[in-house]
Amino acid sequence: MSALPSVLIRSLGVHTPARRVTNEELSLTVETSDEWIRTRSGIGERRIAAANENPSDMGAKAAAQALERAGLKPTDIDLLIVATMTPDLTFPSTACLLQSKLGLRTDIPCFDISAACSGFIYALQVGTDMLRGGHYRRALIVGAEKLSSVVDWKDRSTCVLFGDAAGAAVIETSDQPNIGVLANLLGADGSNAELLYAVAGGSAKPASAETVAAGEHYLRMNGKEVFKLAVRVMASSCEQVLKEAGVSSDEVACFIPHQANVRIIEAVASQLGVGMERFLLNLECYGNTSAASIPLALEQAWREGHIKHNDLVLLVAFGAGLTWGATLIRWYEPNR
Ligand SMILES: CC(C)(COP(=O)(O)OP(=O)(O)OC[C@H]1O[C@@H](n2cnc3c(N)ncnc32)[C@H](O)[C@@H]1OP(=O)(O)O)[C@@H](O)C(=O)NCCC(=O)NCCS
Repeated sequence: MSALPSVLIRSLGVHTPARRVTNEELSLTVETSDEWIRTRSGIGERRIAAANENPSDMGAKAAAQALERAGLKPTDIDLLIVATMTPDLTFPSTACLLQSKLGLRTDIPCFDISAACSGFIYALQVGTDMLRGGHYRRALIVGAEKLSSVVDWKDRSTCVLFGDAAGAAVIETSDQPNIGVLANLLGADGSNAELLYAVAGGSAKPASAETVAAGEHYLRMNGKEVFKLAVRVMASSCEQVLKEAGVSSDEVACFIPHQANVRIIEAVASQLGVGMERFLLNLECYGNTSAASIPLALEQAWREGHIKHNDLVLLVAFGAGLTWGATLIRWYEPNR
């Protein structure tokens, strides 16, 4: 057994923008239909942030809820990691903006992680390892996205899929053995970067009147290829993490998959030989919220009582990069 200290999720919080955009509403502006979007993706509506509602604002609200539910103050936090592919600004980090909005201490590290839809799992692992290193006791791990700002609202093949949201977890070390994060896996394949990317807006091709006119700052995606790779890497990530932990898929109480497409999730479930009733689905209400997707789904599973003390929970995601990751958790319920 590992001699490393346990790191557990003590609390979760979420924030979703008030504005709901249904498939019917989208069909008024692009040539699509509720039937097409539901059949191909499982999405029914998504939340869209207000112009002045940025990832640092949504993330601060989600984090404040997580702190309140844990009975903690902002000053109790020793480390902040924000996962986002839609940072408020190119620099400084969204984490620094969120730190200030939430009133976290100034003697703590605050930084962003860029791993697209796998971002929360990446950030959770980095945070877990930093806590295990012994310098920090408690961290906030936040996934916050405003995908509506990078989506081309005239491109029906992408705009129907994404939404805005934030989710946050308070993680902390514990003396109890065999609880919290048990095993994890992270991976990436940059040779597939152009399957899902934005051409302009970075230093390789800075934003200009020409790039904006050409729509090069918008998200571009090869949906079919991403679909195939997503099924493969999500299924194999689950298998590898379960093997590392010496656990069978039958023992997992709840799977929390990245909420990109219900058909991807169904294919992963089928490859693992697991019934869909053990997969938390909420993409019908929120669409793909990238780094916010996993904490949003995990918080729902926790709040609705789908996961209980000592249950095994498996988080799994993939995203632009390509990136992927999976984390197996033995759930700790403080209020049991
Ligand atoms: C995008 C996705 C839903 C498309 O589903 P699909 O079954 O592959 O659909 P296709 O690409 O075969 O498109 C079929 C047709 O529907 C059309 N279409 C695309 N979007 C449409 C929309 N919103 N409404 C109506 N028709 C649409 C296409 O133009 C195409 O028409 P054509 O056959 O005349 O060329 C699917 O590929 C997917 O979800 N991929 C993964 C994307 C993802 O998860 N990205 C995030 C990664 S984190």
